[in-house]
Amino acid sequence: NGQVPHAKGLDNSLELMQDGYLFIKKRVDQYQCDLFEARLLGQKVICMSGEEAAKVFYDPERFQRNGALPKRVQKTLFGVNAIQTMDGEAHIHRKLLFMSLMTPPNQKRLAEFAMEQWQASIPKWEGGGKIVLFEEANDVLCRIACHWAGIPLKESEVKERAGDFSAMVDAFGAIGPRHWKGRRARAKAEKWMREVIEEVRSGKLKVKEDSALHAMAFHSDLNGNQLDTQMAAVELINVLRPIVAIATFITFSALALHEHPECKEKIRSGDENYLEMFVEEVRRYYPFAPFLGARVRKDFIWNHCEFKTGMLVLLDIYGTNHDSRIWENPNEFRPERFKEWKSSLFDFIPQGGGDPAEGHRCPGEGITVEIMKATLDFLVNKIQFQVPAQDLSYSLAKMPTLPKSGFIMSHIMRK
Ligand code: HEM
Repeated sequence: NGQVPHAKGLDNSLELMQDGYLFIKKRVDQYQCDLFEARLLGQKVICMSGEEAAKVFYDPERFQRNGALPKRVQKTLFGVNAIQTMDGEAHIHRKLLFMSLMTPPNQKRLAEFAMEQWQASIPKWEGGGKIVLFEEANDVLCRIACHWAGIPLKESEVKERAGDFSAMVDAFGAIGPRHWKGRRARAKAEKWMREVIEEVRSGKLKVKEDSALHAMAFHSDLNGNQLDTQMAAVELINVLRPIVAIATFITFSALALHEHPECKEKIRSGDENYLEMFVEEVRRYYPFAPFLGARVRKDFIWNHCEFKTGMLVLLDIYGTNHDSRIWENPNEFRPERFKEWKSSLFDFIPQGGGDPAEGHRCPGEGITVEIMKATLDFLVNKIQFQVPAQDLSYSLAKMPTLPKSGFIMSHIMRK
């Protein structure tokens, strides 16, 4: 790979920790090339960024997911051998199960549950005290995710369960205590879910047929076999955990409102289109998923670079969403940019690229957008509040990141 830029140094793991979300973008800009070679944790890795790179990355002839996700990430964030690691027909079959749960009526139901839960929180907040929006959002989302999925959850359990889902997400990219906290949280949640699934299978727990719990408990794979209890538990968590993770985008939405108060007027006017553009801009502009990994399925050449079978390749999500070839002034927060926007499926990739029914793109974008819209409507139109002095900065070196204070609100009153 003589013509391909190489990141400087024997190993770049330390720089990845230092640059975080900017690791790939910084280097493709510096080398003026969509890709470069690096060494991460002792292996050669090709890092790439931009729309063309995304198209290549999502070509199933060229890439597979099996073997791409480090075990440490499977043991915290995703679960071992879950949908994220599958390929081919078996993946598509499993994916249709997820897609069947994320229909527009279900998106709407979840958004309505979210609005109800937010409204129900107001009395608790009134009286002048301070609340941390990120924490409140975790609890609200955990309640609605379980309620929607058909999973019994006592009010006394909410904080602990929400904290566990959140810890799994926080473990991504972490070493040390945050990683171990994520592992313990996953082990606990998997045990809980295995028990619930067994109760459903034995008929002890009755659950609606159109619920996520029922779907996971009775799904059969391509050979007609039911998922084993552990796998069903892992995949059920793959529905619940990411709903709770919307708390991150909710916190960034509040930050965006705070930093761009002029946007409030437009959300206040009840303009649905504007609300949606605002949400899209939050998903584009603020950092959440940093990059994705896959392994080369068979040798090919792209952009003068030899991709050898088995090589690990990373696709830059954050950098593609800030690529100036796609986005005018990418570092400016401007919802209006989505007015005439027509996506190619590979240019706006906060939750992955391509067609979700055919590849690994997130099946939960509709749910994410609808819950964010309901929450913004709540924050702007249903309550008034103050934002006391606090540290709202967020580090691009930490993955995943969040405004340091978690967004503190005070003097909350119903409008
Ligand atoms: C996959 C991001 C919300 C369920 C993904 C991927 C990303 C992502 C980057 C990987 C795409 C790929 O591998 O090509 C996000 C973000 C969310 C979010 C930033 C906002 C909080 C959701 C929600 C759900 C969900 C609400 C479900 C209710 C999934 C599943 C996959 C996935 C099951 C695996 C798909 C597959 O491997 O085929 N998500 N997601 N996500 N997401 Fe999301």
